[in-house]
Amino acid sequence: MRQPIIAGNWKMHKTGPETQEFMTQFLPLVAGVEHCEIVLCPPYTALSVIAAASQGTNIAFGAQNMHWELQGAFTGEVSAGMLKAAGCKYVILGHSERREYFGESDAVVNRKVKTALANALLPILCVGEKLEHREAGSTQQVVKGQLLGSLAGIAAVDVSKMVLAYEPIWAIGTGRTATSSDAEEVIAFIRAEVGALVGSAAAEAVRIQYGGSVKPDNAAELMAMPNIDGALVGGASLEPASFAKLVRYK
Ligand code: PGA
Repeated sequence: MRQPIIAGNWKMHKTGPETQEFMTQFLPLVAGVEHCEIVLCPPYTALSVIAAASQGTNIAFGAQNMHWELQGAFTGEVSAGMLKAAGCKYVILGHSERREYFGESDAVVNRKVKTALANALLPILCVGEKLEHREAGSTQQVVKGQLLGSLAGIAAVDVSKMVLAYEPIWAIGTGRTATSSDAEEVIAFIRAEVGALVGSAAAEAVRIQYGGSVKPDNAAELMAMPNIDGALVGGASLEPASFAKLVRYK
């Protein structure tokens, strides 16, 4: 059985003190939740706040990006070793905002995935099509290309530990969610492609989230789909009561 994983992607929101305030309110609201893994991905500058506040709780945390090299002259970048030492379990890689605004290609994402895995960080690897792709009927082709490019050379045993996130770009931050059956269809396709790439055992094990305008009132329907193993949540993860309600979708 795959344990669902609900991750909050805070993007460029919340200072350290704001993060502390969030945790003070959020922790009691989700205490005792066991049906899903809860993950928070704050900005780098708030990782230490989450690390301290989440100790001994049911909350894991991660970063939103990292560099593919372990150290060196890369001004402004953060390495896998730094994230690991900060207590991160996960790192979001290949988010569409990274691809779009920071020019990350599948080849770059692939290098990052390899470095993360080699440093015992679990990637949350994002893929997803633009509206024009969906309208042109090329969703599967685009998503397959991203998957093959980002997962090139990754062993089955590593793929099985990862989290994949299907995030149709037209649904991110727009309030326009994919219907649960549209999301299920693409996620089932992703699972089949993972099977073709590295075998059915890894395809059965890998957890695949849906992301894009997931809210407390649509989470249950999405999560009821057989291939959807969780959610990657932006806007609705910023407010403690709303994110706690979403986590408690059951
Ligand atoms: P959203 O963002 O929930 O605000 O649509 C999701 C994401 O970008 O991960």
